[in-house]
Amino acid sequence: EVIKEWSGLNDKEINMTKMLQIEKVLLTYGDTDKDETVKSELGKEVARLIQVLANGGMTIAVTGGSTISTVADALKKQQHMSDVLFVPARGGVGTDMKFQANTLAARMAEESGATYQTLYVPDVVGEDMYQSIIKEPEIKQVLTVIKKADIVIHGIGNALEMAERRGTHTENIKELTESGAIAEAFGYYFNEEGKVVHRLQTVGLQLEDLQQADYVIAVAGGSTKAKAIAAYMKQAPKQTILVTDEVVAEELLKNN
Ligand code: BG6
Repeated sequence: EVIKEWSGLNDKEINMTKMLQIEKVLLTYGDTDKDETVKSELGKEVARLIQVLANGGMTIAVTGGSTISTVADALKKQQHMSDVLFVPARGGVGTDMKFQANTLAARMAEESGATYQTLYVPDVVGEDMYQSIIKEPEIKQVLTVIKKADIVIHGIGNALEMAERRGTHTENIKELTESGAIAEAFGYYFNEEGKVVHRLQTVGLQLEDLQQADYVIAVAGGSTKAKAIAAYMKQAPKQTILVTDEVVAEELLKNN
């Protein structure tokens, strides 16, 4: 059980944890969309969690994104982190280097005094490329480590926003919309019921790999992401800890 000091948001955290039937919901005040400092607060909360949950020999797989980057900002050097290993959950997405999973895994390791491994492959590849890439000894070794991660930390995005960020073709975006895609997380697109309606051929962590992790930390906030978060959470593994903001909590509790 993860204990947090009394913050005045406790009732909402408890109600939401019950509603979503997951390990825990942790909330910060405000709306990430309206105030950048709320995003940093999400990052601080996750950094605190990492430093409580991580111990010797653990592997932590992280995805990319601007929200996850605030976790790297908030981590502090700690002795017990020295034999924790950070790995990117997947290859690279889009073009923004500073928000890539590789970059963030390395930064988190540097900030906390841990170690890291990289996975230098494109995130989305064709079938032939995929089959040969996963046979490369170095890549194969990192992929084995990633799939057995003890803790997974990931963002949640709006389906269309993420499709655009990935440079998805217009006709595929249309298909996505028609399939009812609302949420996106690590290359999977989910509809309102939390069903996978589309998935990308990605190198790295797959949805089913989450089941074996001790903790899955999902971090996303902001009123514009409320529906995406609600959709993704419908199928989230039981050991998920959701770190989000008050405005998302209110939206989800209201619609319950
Ligand atoms: C990434 C995930 O961590 O964060 C994506 O891999 C998710 O699946 C994205 O959609 C959200 O990004 P941001 O910048 O809104 O935090």
